[in-house]
Amino acid sequence: MKKIIVSILALMCLSSLAFAGCAHEQPPAAQSGDILVAYFSNTGNTERIAETIAEETGGTLYEIVPETPYTAADLDYSDSGCRANREQNDPDARPAIAGEPENFDDCSTVFIGYPIWWGDAPRIVQTFLESHSFDGKTVYTFSTSGSSGGSGAYDGLRNNYTDINFAGNLHFTSSQLSGAQERVSGWLSDIGVR
Ligand SMILES: Cc1cc2nc3c(=O)[nH]c(=O)nc-3n(C[C@H](O)[C@H](O)[C@H](O)COP(=O)(O)O)c2cc1C
Repeated sequence: MKKIIVSILALMCLSSLAFAGCAHEQPPAAQSGDILVAYFSNTGNTERIAETIAEETGGTLYEIVPETPYTAADLDYSDSGCRANREQNDPDARPAIAGEPENFDDCSTVFIGYPIWWGDAPRIVQTFLESHSFDGKTVYTFSTSGSSGGSGAYDGLRNNYTDINFAGNLHFTSSQLSGAQERVSGWLSDIGVR
């Protein structure tokens, strides 16, 4: 009888060790302290998605604030000479950013959100990407637009910054914004960032 009990106990120990071993082999899920949710937004659409991602992940929200804020006239893209259009037409434009995210180096996962400007990410996103080292970090992007898709802008960033580990993009047109919470939740589950 004693032998049987000892054998059962030994088996229980072995199986719990095996379980611990398996658990250890899972890729570590990103911890909330490791997540930065950076975004650029002028009329609030991208900001709302950023807030949802930060709420769902417990990540730190950081707004990319231009040193010189965009006025309504700067954003009037029906005017071919407006500031936003001039910047998008100039591949070297890098609008300056005011301030820095705290503890950037400690983040392993960075979400970067932006509105689509003429099919691309605004130049200030390039300022942000070029101001930091993304070595060892995983980067996800999210974007909003009136009606255009987001894949052209995402591919543009991936092609321009081949050293950065871009791992996915989530895009919302204006008609998709009302169902944002559900899509964000589903996406975060799909990419395993929770
Ligand atoms: C300069 C400029 C260019 C834009 N270009 C496009 C575009 O190519 N396609 C589109 O669907 N929407 C375009 N939009 C609309 C914005 O992408 C859309 O309103 C976005 O949700 C704004 O995000 P925000 O509220 O976070 O600033 C443009 C807006 C601006 C100011």
